[in-house]
Amino acid sequence: MWAPASGDVALSLAGLVGSSGEVVGVERDPRSISRAKARVADAGLHDVPFIESEVAHLSSGQLFDAVVGRCILMFLPDSASVLRLLSQFVRPGGVLISRRLLIVLFSSLPALCRSGRQAL
Ligand SMILES: C[S@@+](CC[C@H](N)C(=O)[O-])C[C@H]1O[C@@H](n2cnc3c(N)ncnc32)[C@H](O)[C@@H]1O
Repeated sequence: MWAPASGDVALSLAGLVGSSGEVVGVERDPRSISRAKARVADAGLHDVPFIESEVAHLSSGQLFDAVVGRCILMFLPDSASVLRLLSQFVRPGGVLISRRLLIVLFSSLPALCRSGRQAL
């Protein structure tokens, strides 16, 4: 997983893989790493190692089942090259997932959108 910040993604992935799996976080900001580590520890989940690094400078001989990021592509000047780099860390058959977090101020939507799930 890359760019954990609040630790949300670290928490959900550590919960998913369980004690037999491994999650490695990548983040360039040491304060974000401390925050994410504290939340993982508070949740009683196994230790998640964090690498303090620019995501574009990553190198790894290790292959992962999944490389997951959330709300990070928009911070990268050349997101295509980072995605190409990260794809090299995914084992054959694995997945590279980039998620967005959609925060909508509900009251600002037109009534039509609020009335039906198909509108969103
Ligand atoms: C909006 S936060 C998203 C955090 C987290 N992925 C989430 O969804 O809760 C963006 C994070 O990306 C980190 N970040 C931004 N550009 C980065 C880069 N080039 N390399 C590593 N981390 C980066 C920032 O330090 C910040 O913690």
